[in-house]
Amino acid sequence: LLKNPMRVREPDQTLPLLADGYRWLPAQWEQTDGPMVRTRLMGRPAVAVRGPEAVRFFYEEPRIERHDALPGPVLSTLFGHGAVHTLDGRDHQVRKAMFVDLLKDPDRVEALASTVGAAWDTAAEQWTDGRRVVLFDESARLLTRAVCRWAGLPLDASRVDDVTRDLVAMVDGFATAGPRHIRARRARRRAEQGLMRLVTRIRTGERKADPGSVLDAVVHHQGADGLLIDTHTTAVELLNILRPTVAISWFVAFAGHALHEWPDQKRLLREGGEEYARAFAHEVRRHYPFAPFVAGVAQEELHHRGEPIEAGTLVLLDLYGHDHDAELWVRPDDFDPGRFTGRTPERDELIPQGGGDASAGHRCPGEDITVRLLGLLSLRLARLEYRMPAQDLRIPLERIPTRPKSGVVLGDVRYGD
Ligand code: HEM
Repeated sequence: LLKNPMRVREPDQTLPLLADGYRWLPAQWEQTDGPMVRTRLMGRPAVAVRGPEAVRFFYEEPRIERHDALPGPVLSTLFGHGAVHTLDGRDHQVRKAMFVDLLKDPDRVEALASTVGAAWDTAAEQWTDGRRVVLFDESARLLTRAVCRWAGLPLDASRVDDVTRDLVAMVDGFATAGPRHIRARRARRRAEQGLMRLVTRIRTGERKADPGSVLDAVVHHQGADGLLIDTHTTAVELLNILRPTVAISWFVAFAGHALHEWPDQKRLLREGGEEYARAFAHEVRRHYPFAPFVAGVAQEELHHRGEPIEAGTLVLLDLYGHDHDAELWVRPDDFDPGRFTGRTPERDELIPQGGGDASAGHRCPGEDITVRLLGLLSLRLARLEYRMPAQDLRIPLERIPTRPKSGVVLGDVRYGD
């Protein structure tokens, strides 16, 4: 490939991206000298940017918009059509304020943490009977049970496994053209239909949502036009709270992987308690691959570090690259929670869930929840004694999203001292 390939029309990279996963963008950077990768995705010109200046550019440039940036297959699986992720301007501001109020309120975060902690304790009691425990599956199940309870959503015990499977499938199948993708579409359809029925019953007065609950707030949310959002969009946004909370199970599996790879971390967690657990959670989010990049579309010709970006270009912010950039991190491939002990990361320093200001832009409003729950579950895991039976712990980088292949299997689980 040519260096400085601006002069040639790039071949479309959608299939290579799907085939190479997390390796795709780093390989593009290796072939680039300038401040941005120039490529094509989904039939349109695309650029990828990274570094602190790029984070500010991506989040503060009002002419980078989100409608039209996410391909249909990603909306039909991961986020849902009409999701907050796809809104701009005032529509986004009003919808986003609802998420921020619900998800960044410290009391609600603590209430969810205590529900999740109790769900783990109940599950862990059963693990000590000698069975083999798949950490990924168990944490997805207990997160499903806890987030539904916390949100005020009725969930019969007999349906926990099915609902968990659907919430996991939506995340697992968004970036592939294979059977996982079909499963993800079906899962979304089923989940949206179930929630739409519930929303309709509440709105017609046939059922009541607990006053002040997350369900109540989303069902009665009014958009920028002062009207209730439609039933389908309400279901989509409820799922945008349930699904990513359950997706924390990907990070829990990575935490299990980290405790195996760096056994000293177990002792450090036990000794360091909640404060160390917070730093550990940050390092899990930094070190392991999850969201590779986020995307917007340039609405007019823009310039970044002196380079033109023509109108209509897809602009990708390289989250995974940023969190492993050797210019920003000392020995980026080491796993070292010490990077974050005794301090809070700067706004645009650590961006596995996006950068900028969560209230003003599209940064993930669920970051406080993620850090709190991941810290709490990592600490509980570290306090268990268990054996790691022979298993495949490889993390295939060509699969998005990835996780240790075995899901992290624990044997002979016992409570620690
Ligand atoms: C947005 C990652 C957990 C709710 C995002 C974005 C990323 C992300 C990369 C896009 C940022 C952007 O477009 O600039 C993650 C990861 C999580 C996680 C890796 C760990 C499992 C959560 C949780 C919740 C949540 C727990 C809710 C309880 C959302 C919502 C948005 C979002 C509603 C859309 C925000 C907007 O468009 O304004 N997340 N997230 N996420 N996340 Fe998360």
